Amino acid sequence: MSSPAVAPSPLPPAILIEQPEHARAVEVLVDRAFGPGRFAKSSERLREGNHKLDDCSFVALDDGRVIGSVRLWPVTVGGKPVAFLGPLAVDADERKHGLGQALVEAACDAAAKAGWAAVLLVGDAPYFGRVGFAAEPAAQAIMPGPADQRRVLVKALVEGGDQGLAGPIRIG
Ligand SMILES: CC(C)(COP(=O)(O)OP(=O)(O)OC[C@H]1O[C@@H](n2cnc3c(N)ncnc32)[C@H](O)[C@@H]1OP(=O)(O)O)[C@@H](O)C(=O)NCCC(=O)NCCS
Repeated sequence: MSSPAVAPSPLPPAILIEQPEHARAVEVLVDRAFGPGRFAKSSERLREGNHKLDDCSFVALDDGRVIGSVRLWPVTVGGKPVAFLGPLAVDADERKHGLGQALVEAACDAAAKAGWAAVLLVGDAPYFGRVGFAAEPAAQAIMPGPADQRRVLVKALVEGGDQGLAGPIRIG
């Protein structure tokens, strides 16, 4: 007697370094997540004309399909180099399974390995606070355009890496 066929369980999404062939799907995902207004954000001023940190930018793949993305960029705060995180996006059908947090953690781990002292971003403190970001050490860091200072958040990757971050945030 043959045993009943068992459906293979689906593989969990893989989190991998973004490759050039993912770029188009990342654009589509981020457009969907943020809408057309995304290019008006002050954060975009730190990305246009900048080059993402290739070794610290990740995608979440489900069977080869891009379902999540996070990118990091080199900037300076008052002359101090930090990695700037964003955009972070997860496909609307794939949210609340920990992918967003896993992408942020992958990017921060890679940035720490690459020698960055801190990661900075503009985002919701209740979300990013769960993964170690805080507004207080970034209170004197000035975005290149309108920004709610309570949403400018930083996470140290080394002891004291979030200290002394004062002055304009510029492409680094
Ligand atoms: C924010 C985003 C990346 C989270 O992705 P995700 O894979 O669902 O994240 P996680 O699974 O790690 O975390 C989900 C949890 O965070 C909460 N959460 C999501 N966005 C939040 C926010 N802006 N503020 C507070 N909590 C938030 C969810 O309610 C959920 O809570 P629960 O664990 O109690 O159910 C995703 O919702 C997204 O792409 N949003 C649109 C783009 C965006 O806002 N990006 C971030 C701004 S830089």
